Amino acid sequence: MTSKQLSVTDVYKIFGSSGSETPVLRGVTFDVEVGEFVCVMGPSGSGKTTLLHLISGLDTPSSGQISLGGRSLATMNSNERTLLRRAEVGYVFQFFNLLPNLNAIENVGLPLAIAGQRPKNHRKELEAHFERFGLERCLESMPHQLSGGEMQRVSIARALAGGQPLLLCDEPTGNLSQIHGVAVMESLRKVCDEDDRTVFLVTHNPRDATYADRVLFLVDGEIDPAHALHGPNISADAIHEVLAELHI
Ligand SMILES: Nc1ncnc2c1ncn2[C@@H]1O[C@H](COP(=O)(O)OP(=O)(O)O)[C@@H](O)[C@H]1O
Ligand SMILES: [Mg+2]
Repeated sequence: MTSKQLSVTDVYKIFGSSGSETPVLRGVTFDVEVGEFVCVMGPSGSGKTTLLHLISGLDTPSSGQISLGGRSLATMNSNERTLLRRAEVGYVFQFFNLLPNLNAIENVGLPLAIAGQRPKNHRKELEAHFERFGLERCLESMPHQLSGGEMQRVSIARALAGGQPLLLCDEPTGNLSQIHGVAVMESLRKVCDEDDRTVFLVTHNPRDATYADRVLFLVDGEIDPAHALHGPNISADAIHEVLAELHI
């Protein structure tokens, strides 16, 4: 029996005011099971970041329903959405968003500090994230001393430190060379396999999408379930075929 980590039902997002409305999402529907690694692919400007903002409760849909961990965001006010986001969601951004004047392990400890705990009391757990992502030598490094790939793995560790079950990743390799991108994607795959966390990735990079258990395609504001790819071992060729078919 699987259970749903995330449920998105007939979600619309329209920006702008009447007369100059831009519909970005037009009836998006899909579910993500606990422990699944799902990727949404779409070209630049197709609404991927918008979708993540709605899922994490940073923004609200124009219509439709979103549930996180079985709880509907629709009836929540902004404070309640913030609390649910802190409980359910870790975020990985394209540009890392590490705080420049904290060292790596202080950055990773931030979610604990925000939750009112003392990161010093959790030093061993925090160091364990560094070990599994090959970052042992970076514990005390400042962000500017790290490569892009190291910064992104530190930011994955930070997203895990708070213990949230869902990891939302917005183009996590978009600012990295190929070799660093591969290390980041392997780290995300590890998180899904070893921790039983749910990974939800949005990207326009076919190579990144091959790491997912399921790939969905966001085109013209919609996700057509007929074009979904199901793993394991989704090939880059299979992804390119669907992209060509969809003219993206
Ligand atoms: N706050 C906003 N106000 C108005 N338009 C927006 C806003 N956020 C995003 N958009 C527009 O929505 C579209 C999708 O943006 P985005 O979700 O960032 O796409 P992606 O992440 O796929 O590149 C773009 O045309 C963008 O300009
Ligand atoms: Mg984006």
